[in-house]
Amino acid sequence: MSNKWNTNNIPSQDGKLIVVTGANSGLGLGTTKELVKKGAQVVMVVRDMNKGKQAETEILSETPNAQLDVMQMDLSDLDSVRDFAQKFKDKYKKLDVLINNAGVMTPPERFETKQGFEGQFGTNHLGHFVLTSELFEVINNTPNSRIVTVSSAVAKFKDADIYWSDLQFEKTPYHKMKTYAQSKLANQLFGKELDQKLKSIGSQTLSVMAHPGYTATKLQRHMGLMGRIMNVLMAQKLEMGILPTLRAATDTNVKGGEYYGPLKMNNLRGYPELNTLADKAEDSKERIKLWNISEELTNTKFEIN
Ligand SMILES: NC(=O)c1ccc[n+]([C@@H]2O[C@H](COP(=O)([O-])OP(=O)(O)OC[C@H]3O[C@@H](n4cnc5c(N)ncnc54)[C@H](OP(=O)(O)O)[C@@H]3O)[C@@H](O)[C@H]2O)c1
Repeated sequence: MSNKWNTNNIPSQDGKLIVVTGANSGLGLGTTKELVKKGAQVVMVVRDMNKGKQAETEILSETPNAQLDVMQMDLSDLDSVRDFAQKFKDKYKKLDVLINNAGVMTPPERFETKQGFEGQFGTNHLGHFVLTSELFEVINNTPNSRIVTVSSAVAKFKDADIYWSDLQFEKTPYHKMKTYAQSKLANQLFGKELDQKLKSIGSQTLSVMAHPGYTATKLQRHMGLMGRIMNVLMAQKLEMGILPTLRAATDTNVKGGEYYGPLKMNNLRGYPELNTLADKAEDSKERIKLWNISEELTNTKFEIN
């Protein structure tokens, strides 16, 4: 396989049903566009239906026969996540690929999700944890299915940690990048532990992780002038940023537990290649601890046995 994996490498997705969270913007929108071009039906999961419908119109103007279904879900409200999952299961009886893509990065002020979790950890990790749990049975019952979780190069930054003594940043002063890094590291701990659990039951479902390097999207809107300058000087184009997720979701050579993303410029640019997870994500005790605490916090029993 060439190390310049690109959209020409995507096999036909005819007959596949794929859920993409955050499908109205940036990487989620770009990913959806490519998947429908290859014949997949995509459920575009969005928190704002107006934005979702606008994105649907944009996709249909480029790919008139795109099979799309826009559905609402707010990851920062677990009632909304459970409500979406129920509506999905009432409507569909299979799910080939779940792409846990949506995310929020470095809001200047600490905010809380509806259930009172720190906003970035609550949205990026706990929301997707509950979503995956709610959809797990239908995914596990779909042959050759996958769960793709989108992490970030920041998960390997020096400050990236699971801050066990203050997970919600209630006692320590809010640090927008530490909380973002915690949430994206948590995505890796979750994706890898999910892979271990799937393997332990001999499931054919794969858990795969991806990161887009540094891609200019609306995600950097809280980074101010510095963000705008870096978006011009360092960021890669959306066409490149979507490739790791697309590879994780569609490349038939991919194995469970793998992590795809660019390697150049300290993982910020390039074609998607097999990457290594953050060291902390390789620690099974940490992973199990996060899994258990995520179950407790969200009042979810996510058992795979
Ligand atoms: N761009 C990069 O360089 C980069 C680097 C590393 C990792 N990532 C990851 O890539 C993923 C996609 O980011 P992006 O760059 O495409 O950013 P983006 O353009 O800002 O898109 C983020 C998407 O997530 C949705 N979202 C945010 N909060 C949500 C919530 N509470 N419930 C449901 N959906 C919510 C947004 O919806 P609204 O439009 O309604 O806000 C939007 O659709 C994120 O997980 C991010 O951490 C991106």
